[in-house]
Amino acid sequence: MPYPHMIAIDGPAAAGKSTIGELLAEELDYLYFDTGVMYRAVTWAALQRSIPIEDEAAISILAQELRIDVLQPTVQDGRQYTVCVDGQDVTWDLRRPEVDYGVSPVSAYPAVRAALTAQQRRIGLQGRVVMVGRDIGTVVLPEAQLKVYLDATVEARARRRYLENRQRGQKARYADILRAMRRRDQIDSQRDAAPLRPAEDAVVLDTTDLPIEQVMVQVHELIQQRDP
Ligand code: CDP
Repeated sequence: MPYPHMIAIDGPAAAGKSTIGELLAEELDYLYFDTGVMYRAVTWAALQRSIPIEDEAAISILAQELRIDVLQPTVQDGRQYTVCVDGQDVTWDLRRPEVDYGVSPVSAYPAVRAALTAQQRRIGLQGRVVMVGRDIGTVVLPEAQLKVYLDATVEARARRRYLENRQRGQKARYADILRAMRRRDQIDSQRDAAPLRPAEDAVVLDTTDLPIEQVMVQVHELIQQRDP
């Protein structure tokens, strides 16, 4: 096996996971899979059906029943993939502020995690995959041959998300994004079920002052080291 065939990339919001994950998957001709969209899809569907975010029982059932498809991009509008929920294209809806707000509480529900983790693990075990999220190295694919945990200061991450949103024409205030990101970091890292943390065998890279190209250089070195 010339390369690690399962690569796990974890870390908090806007640490660079999706950019690095997609570049790496493209280079290696692996599947790129962003697990965050599944939690976002459940959150979006709950809002759509007027299920209160606090209703753990109803949201748990929703997570078990919802059909979420992550497909190759169907439109060339800057998306990394197309996400369909019950057949409806919701790719950009998943980035709305109300989904950002609800997604961390929804992701803390153990039954939601159990339902989505099982699907993610099935996809990951097929191999040749770069999977990104919060708990890939710890829970979803603990057997991944390469685990990278990308981190950066919350200010740097909020700034990146601010610029991303502006580029997409979405109005946003830096202070609001920073506050929302702090809240999400806190819920994600303090929940009981699969909290955000690096796996013991993960390599932690701080991307605060590291441009994408430099992160890629470091990831390439890690891949070389694992290439027998
Ligand atoms: O894109 P961004 O980093 O802002 O978020 P995301 O990766 O789409 O994840 C959204 C939320 O889903 C996170 O804040 C977590 O609460 C949750 N999540 C999770 O709990 N476990 C994962 N494997 C992926 C996401």
